[in-house]
Amino acid sequence: MRDASDLIPFMIRLALALLLAVLLALPAAANPATREVPLDEMAFTHHTAGLEFEQILEYRKGLVIFEKLWVPSPVRASLGRFDGLGPLYNASACSRCHLRNGRASAPHDPRGLRNLVLRILVPDEDGGALTPDPVYGRQLQTAATPGHPPEAVLHVSYSDKPVVLSDGTTVNLRQPSYRLDELAYGPMHAGAALSPRIAPPMIGLGLLEAIPAETIMALSDPGDLDGDGISGRASVLSETDDGSPVLGRFGWRASQPTVRAQSAAAFLDDIGMSTFERPEPHGDCTVQQELCHQVVIGADVIEIEDRMMKVLDYFGRHVAVPKREIADDAAFVQAGCPACHVPAIEVPDGDGTKTIRPYTDLLLHDMGDGLADGTGREWRTAPLWGLGLTQTVNPDAGFLHDGRARTILEAVLWHGGEAQAACDAVVNMPAHEREALITFLESL
Ligand code: HEC
Ligand code: HEC
Repeated sequence: MRDASDLIPFMIRLALALLLAVLLALPAAANPATREVPLDEMAFTHHTAGLEFEQILEYRKGLVIFEKLWVPSPVRASLGRFDGLGPLYNASACSRCHLRNGRASAPHDPRGLRNLVLRILVPDEDGGALTPDPVYGRQLQTAATPGHPPEAVLHVSYSDKPVVLSDGTTVNLRQPSYRLDELAYGPMHAGAALSPRIAPPMIGLGLLEAIPAETIMALSDPGDLDGDGISGRASVLSETDDGSPVLGRFGWRASQPTVRAQSAAAFLDDIGMSTFERPEPHGDCTVQQELCHQVVIGADVIEIEDRMMKVLDYFGRHVAVPKREIADDAAFVQAGCPACHVPAIEVPDGDGTKTIRPYTDLLLHDMGDGLADGTGREWRTAPLWGLGLTQTVNPDAGFLHDGRARTILEAVLWHGGEAQAACDAVVNMPAHEREALITFLESL
């Protein structure tokens, strides 16, 4: 008797084989907290799944605020509540830095950097506490409304830092160095240290906010008691009345506890507008910057009404993590990456819990000299969800806190300190394993 499969035309058999291959390749651990969206440049703009009509409206209103271009105050008569920009600022809209809800472009420098945020910190006499610069404040503002000089022009240049992999391939990392020109308000404090940061992506933030503080505390191991070379310190900001810790979760150093707090800080320092949380209408102008203090402020001491903050916060907590088909993670596990980039965490969901896959522990880790800036060596484990779509959303985006890494491999090769062993593992992998690792990271 002839084999029955011979009767099936070749094309159909091929189609069946392909279908089977696709079914087998489906990730064992599809992420229930993600949403199926088109994987194009708008991939980070969609709201989470399962929202009601009213909630979708709320999200859209928040998105409008996120994309709103704010204007200086004197025109407030005509524009009502959309004024109050600056006088000193970095960008006139949230979306100028968080491009299409993704991250900012890597700093490159034809005529000075605009969207890079440069924090300024001055160590006190005994090298302990860090305080803002007495003249320039917490952050360098590279833009200003008419009549006010921007604080400075910020330049970056890169030098090569070659890394040779065990198979002989050389990867050229680029080491940034920064220079300030045209300081408009006199010298900066001699001891001032600068901390450059680019805007991170906006996806999945409500889920990160929902991770119970106890879970993060349980992941931390500040004294490295388990002796794996990886400590990890929770960013404890304060304590609630019942003694439980309030943790920093947002920003590259986990310095803000909530999306709302981070958004208020952004309005204040990046855009120069005040909120109920931060009722300082002159933004980051210091008393030394006299002209700045004389200007008319917006409609009120609080330039951003509470209602606007509410929708902005709702939006910020409901940007969906796109659903992907996750590739094999064997090389990622083998290299020890999950010690910090924790693949699965339970968060409360209605009466139960759901699993999210953020690939972070939200802890601060010493990442070694290579990534250290003058203000510290610790960084928050970057969440890796959405990583592979970074340059789909913004082709100019870079990786790591200051965007120095042009590729995912470069980002991995910058890992040092507590992550030195993981980095060495990647350097010493056979090429095909390293390719599998990158394929996995690109599939996130
Ligand atoms: C000048 C560029 C710039 C502008 C404008 C800006 N941001 Fe950001 N944003 C950043 C940077 C840089 C960080 C990282 C901050 C840090 O490390 O402390 C950040 C971090 C965030 C985070 C935390 C994300 C995370 O994964 O931790 C949120 C939320 C956020 N911004 C919201 C906003 C909102 C809302 C606005 C508008 C009100 C805004 N940002 C305007 C640059 C910007
Ligand atoms: C000791 C903790 C730790 C280990 C282990 C670790 N990482 Fe990281 N990772 C971090 C931290 C912290 C950052 C943020 C560093 C920065 O921005 O300067 C980061 C950033 C990254 C980034 C860039 C993300 C972005 O949004 O720009 C990638 C990619 C990455 N890690 C991949 C890996 C891989 C792959 C491994 C295993 C080979 C690994 N990491 C091991 C802590 C760790």
